Amino acid sequence: MGVCSGDGFDWPEGLDRRVLDGRGFEAKPGQVEIVSGADRPVAVVGLGPPGQVTAAVVRRAGAELARSAKRLRRITVSVLDAVHSELDRREALRALAEGMVLGSYSYGAFKTEPAPNKLATVTIIGPGGRAVTAALERGRRVAEAVCFARDLVNEPGGSLTPARFAGIAQEVAEREGLEVSVLDLDGIREAGLGGLLGVNRGSEQPPRFVEVGYTPAPEVECRGSVALVGKGLTFDAGGLSIKTGTGMMTMKCDMSGGAAVLGVMSAISSVAPPVRVTGYIPMTDNMLGGDATRPGDVLTMANGKTVEVLNTDAEGRLVLADALSVACRTEPDAVVDLATLTGACMVALGPRVAGLMGNNEVWVDQLADAAERTGERVWRLPLPEDYRSQLESPVADMKNIGGPHGGALVAGLFLSNFVAKGIPWAHLDIAGPAFTDSEDGEITKGGTGFGVRLLLDTLERFEPPVPA
Ligand code: BES
Ligand code: MN
Ligand code: ZN
Repeated sequence: MGVCSGDGFDWPEGLDRRVLDGRGFEAKPGQVEIVSGADRPVAVVGLGPPGQVTAAVVRRAGAELARSAKRLRRITVSVLDAVHSELDRREALRALAEGMVLGSYSYGAFKTEPAPNKLATVTIIGPGGRAVTAALERGRRVAEAVCFARDLVNEPGGSLTPARFAGIAQEVAEREGLEVSVLDLDGIREAGLGGLLGVNRGSEQPPRFVEVGYTPAPEVECRGSVALVGKGLTFDAGGLSIKTGTGMMTMKCDMSGGAAVLGVMSAISSVAPPVRVTGYIPMTDNMLGGDATRPGDVLTMANGKTVEVLNTDAEGRLVLADALSVACRTEPDAVVDLATLTGACMVALGPRVAGLMGNNEVWVDQLADAAERTGERVWRLPLPEDYRSQLESPVADMKNIGGPHGGALVAGLFLSNFVAKGIPWAHLDIAGPAFTDSEDGEITKGGTGFGVRLLLDTLERFEPPVPA
């Protein structure tokens, strides 16, 4: 049951407004109150002022509703009665389904008594048709892909090793009918992925480099190709430039970019975007073994450029350098990478907003528009040409760190050195929104699966950007 505050809304028959008022119910977006109805309990969820019911509001309402209904086995939802014409019914249903699946997510893999979630059936009543039902189904599928990404992020670093992560990628590819290739240590050596090898050098766990590919059905008019690159650091201890104990506590999340890419690939056959899509995920942890990369060591990356590693904790850019170089070889129409890359981006934009950079305004706009539609928020950051000099090295083509300020931008500039000339590229620094310690609407504690919805939306509407 959905309820809007203010005038212009027909209060549902049989619902005693005074009871709700007495409990301080103000119909704020996502506010839930359970009252006794004629023959069964009625959950009332707020949608805010009637004129402002956006998809984000419905998603939040769905999430809070599902959260408070965890103890019930089945619920019936008539929230759509409250959705006025300003919001497309399909969009609303899609957001409702997303919210309900995402809000009821919890990670129980390591609990001997996982928190019970009995909610198995949700019946949505309201005017509809085939398009509306399809939207509902789409919302569910996309949200399940997000939950899959969350599961990957939430699995501890000692459990989700690169080998296991790659194995899961293979399973997904097989199930979804996608092409897949996995390079092991020997393959990575042969391919000359010096960044990935350099980061992996302090680890007992061998690295992996995963490529997963989707091709639209032959009857679909294909609009081109997109490469998705995801940072797959299964754990980031910082290497010899070791992190603090607290700094390390959440670093199982450092494969969130890779999880988002694999999450996208897990739903891509059902979403069926009109583009070829290849996901690239370099996988390793960043440890401190006896032969770990030493500050001052020089690595030769997949595109032949050399990097002086002065801080082994700036490792994400090293593995992404290789992955971007490889991705550009097929000359895709556009490339986007997702990475929990810098603490600086988190300082700048906080826990809910990703930094968006790139070399092509048209492509960056497409991602920013998708962010707007999906509610996965981004903020554009610049790549100032004059900051490039911060990366100059006396011994190699560049070093892997710059000065003390503007770290997110310098990291972006570093990555740009590995994007082949003329290829539209965007970079999403998801260090803030990938992982959270607080529940908030459709966001649950731990891995958030940030990026899955944004990328799927981008792919669905993709138009080849004019090369910059
Ligand atoms: N994985 C971290 C970035 C990070 C920090 C992600 C906090 C999520 C939350 C990354 O590898 C890192 O350590 N970056 C360094 C770069 C610095 C050494 C130039 C950082 O941000 O401190
Ligand atoms: Mn690091
Ligand atoms: Zn990292």
